[in-house]
Amino acid sequence: MTKIEEIKLEALKPKEFIEEKIKETSSIVGSGLAINALSGGVDSAAVTLLCHKALGEKLKTYFIDNGLMRQDEPEYVVELFKKLGVHVELLDAKKEFFNALKGLTDPEEKREAITQTFYKDVFGRIVKESGAKYLLQGTNFTDVEETIAGIKRQHNILEQIGIDTEKTFGYKVIEPIIQLRKTGVREVAKALGLPEEIYKRPPFPGPALVARVIGEVTPEKIETVRQATKIVEEELSNTGAFQYLAILHEDRVTGIRDGKRDFGLQIEVRCWESKDALIGSPTRLPYETLDKLAQRISTEVPGVVSVTYNITKKPPSTIEAV
Ligand code: XMP
Repeated sequence: MTKIEEIKLEALKPKEFIEEKIKETSSIVGSGLAINALSGGVDSAAVTLLCHKALGEKLKTYFIDNGLMRQDEPEYVVELFKKLGVHVELLDAKKEFFNALKGLTDPEEKREAITQTFYKDVFGRIVKESGAKYLLQGTNFTDVEETIAGIKRQHNILEQIGIDTEKTFGYKVIEPIIQLRKTGVREVAKALGLPEEIYKRPPFPGPALVARVIGEVTPEKIETVRQATKIVEEELSNTGAFQYLAILHEDRVTGIRDGKRDFGLQIEVRCWESKDALIGSPTRLPYETLDKLAQRISTEVPGVVSVTYNITKKPPSTIEAV
């Protein structure tokens, strides 16, 4: 296992970093073919643009529609990169992901199912069909740290937990931004010429909305948390907070609607102040904001009868629920 040295924000020179990584990536890939998955987050967006600069036509970029993304996300990301001159192939893998998640309730098993479906099934197939030898991905320094610390198995950590991707999946993984934390990645993304809506985008987890559904994941539950997420993002995007999200609980609670008993769903809202996601505190949101969130979520998202706000710091809480 290779030890990864962090590049601290004070030491990072974005332009030089980009030049160096362009050289490094193109020398590793040589005349071969590489592929990468773009999720629309700042990490994968930075890697996509950086590596297109390095590899041009030798890099093929995919958006894997796993059915677990936020509303209209696939179309938004494909369109945005089209404007930047990068063609992104949209691949529908919804069925595969939902099948893999069926019956699983344990958080780490759910994360493992995402990893296997993504790296073995979907990418294994793309690699076979395209003949690519390399997968480029936007793993960052915090992902590595949290996995090694055994807190959460980050979906994209492979080599650091002893997986030989060449043997297991048939391709080599290249991780150009692995020495950077989020703030560093944002600097690099800006220097690459990505628009502000990308380099300032709040983080979104690789396992997508699965990280926000407690218990078994079904298309219906994902739809509920997707609708709640949209409202939370609309209401909290002006707070400047590090990250804000909605979680769907497994337990139902008794509510009342139109004078009748409604044994309904619970949504938990979280809004975080943090620098690098390692530690965090809940934002002290004005009560009017909380009130509006509860009002909107309980009327616009079918079945929701309870909305709560998490007031626990990380640690012992974590940013996502799963
Ligand atoms: P937690 O929930 O561990 O999250 O406090 C820390 C930060 O990481 C994001 N996150 C992930 N990012 N793959 C990722 O790329 C993952 O598997 C993953 N899980 C959590 C989370 O959104 C937060 O910013």
